[in-house]
Amino acid sequence: MFRILAKEKLTPFITMLKIQAPAIARKAQPGQFVVARVDEVGERFPISLANWDNEEGSITIVVMEVGTSTRKLACLNADDHILNLAGPLGLPAHIDNFGKVVCAGGCYGIGAILPIARALKESGNEIISIIEARSKNLLYWQEPLRQVSDELIMTTGDGSYGYKGWTYDPLKEMLEKGEKVDRVFAHGCNFMMMLCSEITKPFGVKTMVSLNPIMVDGTGMCGVCRVSVGGVTKFACVDGPEFDGHEVDWELLASRRQSYIQEEIRSLEWWECQQWCLTTAKSKEA
Ligand code: FES
Repeated sequence: MFRILAKEKLTPFITMLKIQAPAIARKAQPGQFVVARVDEVGERFPISLANWDNEEGSITIVVMEVGTSTRKLACLNADDHILNLAGPLGLPAHIDNFGKVVCAGGCYGIGAILPIARALKESGNEIISIIEARSKNLLYWQEPLRQVSDELIMTTGDGSYGYKGWTYDPLKEMLEKGEKVDRVFAHGCNFMMMLCSEITKPFGVKTMVSLNPIMVDGTGMCGVCRVSVGGVTKFACVDGPEFDGHEVDWELLASRRQSYIQEEIRSLEWWECQQWCLTTAKSKEA
């Protein structure tokens, strides 16, 4: 059992959890993830590490509520426990002194890009961080990112704050103006990572993305997380999650992620209905 030390609601659907997990904190590296199972009837699902503190023995994750399991996780509070947490899993991000690096983050990827930007900065790179959200109130962690970046560009889809558009818009502008970019790291939804990769491809800028297919064991045994990269089948949990975005078969990834969408919708409806019944029963008792 893994105790939650702190919880913070970052946006209406994104929650930060700091969890006591000394063995994971001891070995964690940028780009890695954990596989969580909230309770005995829960599924196993991957979440990127957003931070860790070896001295405190804690790890930090940023959870976006997209289905039953992430909703359950985000509903836990400080001093509650998560049943299983396995990690750190996956290969660490490839960190080196590349020169000028763009770190792009969207949704939960804003949390996941932070340790990568920090490690790249410590390796002597110039860091341009670009983060995106639909609206101003959905942006978070601007300050921690600013501290590890030479420049932080904030974008909002509705133009309510910063640059009107998405991460790939300022990236495209930079490249079209002839600015030198040596490498791009993108973390976020498939669509955002795919577009970042498509934009950088004609300019020959290597773009590393962190793939998020459905996972079960997270250790290379079940094959659920298979993706196609450069025409070769890879397991995202052990060969990744970081891959060259120019080589990823994005269509296949998107269709595999949709495999259980109807079951996921039904599961969430059933769970929410159950929660409503429990709350109603409790309020009647009171
Ligand atoms: Fe099972 Fe990757 S999650 S092989």
